[in-house]
Amino acid sequence: MAFPQQFLDELMARSDIVDVVGSYVQLTRKGANLFGLCPFHSEKTGSFSVSPDKQIYYCFGCKKGGGVVNFIMEEENLTYPDAIRFLAKRAGMEVPEEEGDREASRRRQRLLDLNRDAARFYYQLLQQPEGRAVQAYLDKRQIKKSTAVKFGMGASLDSWDTLLNAMTKKGYTKAELLAAGLIVQNKNGGFYDKFRNRLMLPVIDTRGDVVAFGSRVLDKSEPKYMNSSETPVYSKRRVLYGLNLAKKTKRPNIILCEGNLDIVTLHQAGFDNAVASMGTALTVEQTRLLSRFTKELVLCYDNDNAGKIATERALQILNNSEFSVKVLQLPRRLVDGEYVKQDADDFIKFQGADAFERLLTGSENGIEFRMAQVAGKYDLASDEARVTYCEEISGLLSSLPNAVEREIYSARAAELARITPEAMKLEVQRAFKRRMAREKRAELRKDLNPAAQLQPKERSLRYDNLRSARAEEGILRLLMMDDSLFPEESPLKEEEFSSPLLGRAFALLWAAHQEGRPMSPGLLSGALGTEEASHIAAICQQPESSQNAQRALADYIHIVKTEAKKRAGKDIDPLLAATEKYKDKKGTGGKQYG
Ligand code: CTP
Ligand code: MN
Repeated sequence: MAFPQQFLDELMARSDIVDVVGSYVQLTRKGANLFGLCPFHSEKTGSFSVSPDKQIYYCFGCKKGGGVVNFIMEEENLTYPDAIRFLAKRAGMEVPEEEGDREASRRRQRLLDLNRDAARFYYQLLQQPEGRAVQAYLDKRQIKKSTAVKFGMGASLDSWDTLLNAMTKKGYTKAELLAAGLIVQNKNGGFYDKFRNRLMLPVIDTRGDVVAFGSRVLDKSEPKYMNSSETPVYSKRRVLYGLNLAKKTKRPNIILCEGNLDIVTLHQAGFDNAVASMGTALTVEQTRLLSRFTKELVLCYDNDNAGKIATERALQILNNSEFSVKVLQLPRRLVDGEYVKQDADDFIKFQGADAFERLLTGSENGIEFRMAQVAGKYDLASDEARVTYCEEISGLLSSLPNAVEREIYSARAAELARITPEAMKLEVQRAFKRRMAREKRAELRKDLNPAAQLQPKERSLRYDNLRSARAEEGILRLLMMDDSLFPEESPLKEEEFSSPLLGRAFALLWAAHQEGRPMSPGLLSGALGTEEASHIAAICQQPESSQNAQRALADYIHIVKTEAKKRAGKDIDPLLAATEKYKDKKGTGGKQYG
């Protein structure tokens, strides 16, 4: 993983953050910085900033930040060495490879090859007589041969070692099969196929690689669905089943469903824009993935409690995002005098594709869905319920940022509660004012509370000593702004920093300073984790005046040294620590420079 320093320095010099980030995010200059829509969270107004001077990016919304390498790691979902390779390719530079790196990327590729070979093997089994049971199941579910082929479906057999044997014969080791999650080890150390007697559904990413498998039993036994565990090539948060196909759709939106087979049925019925999150709630990573292909999402979760919760959660994630979001509600179906939920697959089967198309066109937006949820809780025949309904609905409507929307939906709610639109409008206005006041108070509290401002977002990085940490941050900023301010000898030892992270960053920057190498937060990428890099970027984007910098530096150093001494004192002699504290309160421990 260690690339030669000289290579890294040249790579950084050739990878200007504005160029690199600019090819992903549209940036507009505002003063010394550039701004755009943050690629790491959904937003409508740009809180994502890039500083060409400091060579960092920082999002004021989601608080992610770092140097150019962190950006590529995050955006392209790459490890540090892979991000370096990615940037080198972009800059047209040859990478001096280390044995270890080549080994890691070779192993990754082996896993992808193995998954592909396994998918081919399952696929062939499905076409053969041994695949009869799965073929029959596909018939039962009315899945056509062409659809099965399109999804690369396959069959695993009712046997303990068919895949194990076939893949070993192809030259894969048991360790590789285990790493891919295709075999399992039993208590006695033996190995057996993880997927047996199941319909196999390869999970293919947008690059076309088989990254995992989903699978379904053929009967009523449990577990109904079994998916690959997380592996070096598969993270379920970052994949959507069917997106490899849906990304090519000509339809204007993408439909999000719960189940794999819902997707299959939808594609077969002509809705080639459907994807599924395979038994997990929608994640931010998935919304980022989707944003590359569409700006309009249709949520089509099951019409039961779990589905409603999933819808509400997805709406929250997508709230304030660049996506326009609709909710397609599948009606329940009357069976033997009882209304039962149906999923997209059931609906298409019973009502047909045209009916689904009508639901799709008529699907409500997020606020309509939420209003219906609130209305559903009350029996509006009773006056008491009408009053509480109005209270709750005005709270909900007050969350709409747009005044026209607030008015339109208020009128609708008024009609339902059988009150005048004026009365409802007044209620919503009041609720809106209360909300604004609340938000303002919260802002103010945040401004007045330096501790909340100063603390790193990540809990494990929290500062123990805010006074010292603030000075430590200042030292880092100055060192990066103008390292000529610093003396020959290091003015501080890493251990004197109260925050281990800041101490480590200082040590790294100091080493660069001594070797006369350029210093930027970008250089820290390899040595710091994502959260750590984000925090360093947060510190660096804060202003540091270049006036009186020498004096500020002396102040900062003094504070850090004093606080370090206090700490050391506490460890050794509680009595001494107490007197130190006393002295400090009296002000005798005041500023001394040098
Ligand atoms: N799921 C899962 N593990 C389970 C059950 C479900 O991963 N044990 C995921 C699958 O991706 C499944 C989705 O959750 O497709 C929805 O599950 P469910 O509603 O139970 O099944 P259906 O999609 O209706 O499945 P089917 O129509 O095949 O019965
Ligand atoms: Mn189903």
